[in-house]
Amino acid sequence: MPDGRLTVVGTGLITPQHITQEAKRHIELADRVYHLVPDPLGISFLRSLNSNLVYLGDCYQKTDNRAKTYSMMAQRILQGVREELNVVAVFYGHPGVFVSPSHQAIKQARKEGYDATMLPGVSAESCLYADLDIDPGKLGAQNYEATYFLCHKININLSAPLTLWQLGVVGDLSFSTKIKPSATGLYLLKQKLMKHYPDTFEVILYETAIIPAFAPRIKRKPLEDIQLDDINEVTTLYLPEYIAAQKDDYFCTELETKTNQGEKSCQIN
Ligand SMILES: C[S@@+](CC[C@H](N)C(=O)[O-])C[C@H]1O[C@@H](n2cnc3c(N)ncnc32)[C@H](O)[C@@H]1O
Repeated sequence: MPDGRLTVVGTGLITPQHITQEAKRHIELADRVYHLVPDPLGISFLRSLNSNLVYLGDCYQKTDNRAKTYSMMAQRILQGVREELNVVAVFYGHPGVFVSPSHQAIKQARKEGYDATMLPGVSAESCLYADLDIDPGKLGAQNYEATYFLCHKININLSAPLTLWQLGVVGDLSFSTKIKPSATGLYLLKQKLMKHYPDTFEVILYETAIIPAFAPRIKRKPLEDIQLDDINEVTTLYLPEYIAAQKDDYFCTELETKTNQGEKSCQIN
């Protein structure tokens, strides 16, 4: 195996409060740290751990297409690995949740024979569960990218919450680096949702705080009333469950019967 290696880590949503000890240690020991951390506090924290920082954000200015930007970022990260360095790439939140360059870089590094790993981080989803007091273990959970959700036939489970990510670029088929939702995209997303939920169904526009001690933005609104003005770059749309799940009588009865007959009858050969 060649000497270069890649570790992808996340800072969580609030830096340094959310960063794991493990991620911190990797950053400290790296030869070079590539990062896409958006806030100045987060960046100065990274600098206190390691002065060999390379900011990936300038890739947004080099092309007007997000897909090209992401592959440019992945290539930049790989450059360090190919120089046989111990490289760490840092993204905010969980580095593998709705982050394309991290997955691209890991895949390519492994293909070229380098050791490449990803460490978990605190994602917006983790914060949403905490801020809205939701346990995904209770009813299940559905997560989709908003434009993907709009453009694909999805079997929505109305008995489980539905979380739509990247509302800030919903309907943007140009995949532009200028983050803004399209009016048509939002209109169509509402139309699609209102085929399944009542127009007046209360949804939540959610933004977790990224500064310690600040409150999250939790805006409750009827589905039909969501406007472009409600949506920022980081807004996530949360729809609670609408109808109660139906009990599966057949399997419940089977379970009870077979349990009463003893363990043996349940064995799968
Ligand atoms: C490119 S993804 C990055 C997600 C990030 N890696 C994570 O683990 O949360 C950006 C999307 O994450 C969600 N997001 C990011 N920051 C958020 C915040 N402060 N509050 C709520 N959702 C957020 C939004 O849906 C946003 O469009």
